[in-house]
Amino acid sequence: MSSRGAQILSNFCSIPPERLPRGWQILGDVIIVRVSEEHKKEVGEALLRMYPRAKTVLRYLGLKGDMREPIVEVIAGSGETETIVRENGCLYMLDASKIMFSKGNVEERRRMSRVGEDEEIVDMFAGVGHLSIPIAVHSRPKRILAIEINPVAYEYLKRNIELNGIRCMTAVLGDCSEVTPEGEFDRVIMGHIHLARRFLSKGIRALKNEGGILHFHDLAKEPSEPVEILRRACNKERREAKILEVRRVKSYAPRRYHYVVDAEIR
Ligand SMILES: C[S@@+](CC[C@H](N)C(=O)[O-])C[C@H]1O[C@@H](n2cnc3c(N)ncnc32)[C@H](O)[C@@H]1O
Repeated sequence: MSSRGAQILSNFCSIPPERLPRGWQILGDVIIVRVSEEHKKEVGEALLRMYPRAKTVLRYLGLKGDMREPIVEVIAGSGETETIVRENGCLYMLDASKIMFSKGNVEERRRMSRVGEDEEIVDMFAGVGHLSIPIAVHSRPKRILAIEINPVAYEYLKRNIELNGIRCMTAVLGDCSEVTPEGEFDRVIMGHIHLARRFLSKGIRALKNEGGILHFHDLAKEPSEPVEILRRACNKERREAKILEVRRVKSYAPRRYHYVVDAEIR
């Protein structure tokens, strides 16, 4: 069955709704859509007619590497891909052809805007500030250290700190496995579903000796998997973990889910 979006889009082209994409992502004035080679031109033009303020339509082909860079091609519009996303009172400038901004993580970004008051926080895989900008904007933390390895994302991270008028947040260009300080933080965010497992000991060691909260993002079949991995990592570090919550952030692939485990670690 076609979606409501596809039905509306079909008014702007000659393709029947059941053969159109069911949805697309709007990042500021850039649209990203999964579409077949056969229909890409017509769908791109139709989306531009449907959203007259959009400047470019990108065809989404996947993500590559540890830096989670999108693979895209311009299918309509000017080809300009730098844009500003407004969400939950936060501004994120990014280049949609180089930086991923997952729409499936919207609730997690919202959730982060409700934590961290008066805390010292490290975001080990900061991207353009997806998860730490909402904390800085809404929660009055004491300080946030945001670490990002990709120079392109790092430049946007710095600009987003400025754009949102944030004073308590510092961006660092580097590998979090090398530059994350130990024993300094009340809260650690490990928002990379493919790498967080590997760097868990670094995240645990970043917490203050008296303890703190760790947000461990992971890709797994069921919630018990990341919980077990986190417990084992804590045992190895001779720390105790109390699991506060396990949330399914989004479905990632057949029977594979993005989970986030919140744990209090002492
Ligand atoms: C999934 S993205 C952004 C994650 C963001 N926290 C979110 O939930 O949307 C992960 C980011 O981690 C960065 N990254 C990958 N390896 C890293 C490392 N060793 N140290 C710091 N950042 C890293 C990537 O470049 C990418 O920008």
